[in-house]
Amino acid sequence: MLVFSTSDKGGSGRSVTSSNIAYRLCLQGYDVAYADFDFGSPTAGALFEITAVQRGLPDNEDDSEVGLHRYLLGSYVGVARFDVGATTDRSGLRYIGSNAGRLVLLPGDEGGAEFLTSDDVVVNRCARLLTELDQEFEIVVIDLSAGRSVALEIALKTMALEQLRDHVVRWLVFHRWTRQHILAAAGLVYGPNGLVNTGVNYGHRREELLAAIRFVRTAVPAPNAHLGARHGAQATWLQEQNAALKRLATHNKLGLTSLLGATPIEQVLQWREQIILDNDVVANIAAQETVDAYNYLARRLMDNVAWERL
Ligand SMILES: Nc1ncnc2c1ncn2[C@@H]1O[C@H](COP(=O)(O)OP(=O)(O)O)[C@@H](O)[C@H]1O
Ligand SMILES: [Mg+2]
Repeated sequence: MLVFSTSDKGGSGRSVTSSNIAYRLCLQGYDVAYADFDFGSPTAGALFEITAVQRGLPDNEDDSEVGLHRYLLGSYVGVARFDVGATTDRSGLRYIGSNAGRLVLLPGDEGGAEFLTSDDVVVNRCARLLTELDQEFEIVVIDLSAGRSVALEIALKTMALEQLRDHVVRWLVFHRWTRQHILAAAGLVYGPNGLVNTGVNYGHRREELLAAIRFVRTAVPAPNAHLGARHGAQATWLQEQNAALKRLATHNKLGLTSLLGATPIEQVLQWREQIILDNDVVANIAAQETVDAYNYLARRLMDNVAWERL
């Protein structure tokens, strides 16, 4: 299964949520690859705490292996891979668990810039890479650059190719629970130059593409939290705002029928982008609700019922 992670804006929680979902899937026994297609800002290595590639793969002398950016541009050597359990500096991640699958990071290139065009060379190399990865791993998470980026174009063109038509694909659109983010996410998907129209231009069938898209709300505040009777007016106001956001989301086709799930605001993630371990909850540092949300998203991603046309 190929899972493309998109968002209209940066700072939407796309990478943190995607990497935590990948980790949860790995714990559930799946073999997972995580490909960093955020070419302008390839920092997935930092999330998995693999110091050597925390800003992407450095440009070294003996380029026997390259990052994704250079690979797609036509370098004829292999893509570097980092087994997270074997290369992370975080001890809790190093031992992933006896029933767990593999979790492998394919980093971008340090200093790799955004692509300017999605030409045939790049698209064909992308197709070859994704075909191989999809054969080897049960789930391939592809973290795309934000917005209507060339990374998104490359992904759409690649998935429109005949040879990739029969692969299972999911498009996840991450957004925060605010007015601007809801409108931006709607624009990214349904707008005139959005994911769906662009995809159709490249040869996708509209209904199929729509059926493969789900939204993920990140860092959603609990409207009732931290409020005593003293703050009655504020509590009322917050609940009204939450209701208004729900209406806005539904009106913009981001409502429950197209929702995969949501994550709560997590204090740890406000301070530090990281994988939330079960041990972080046991140590009373992270909230159980956060882990529950990632597990739920991971299960829903794999649950065909959640992806049936409504
Ligand atoms: N559930 C959450 N609660 C609080 N902060 C979060 C949550 N999820 C993500 N964040 C934080 O939001 C910021 C942006 O997330 P990130 O995944 O880097 O966004 P993107 O990849 O969309 O640019 C990060 O600092 C991250 O730790
Ligand atoms: Mg990111």
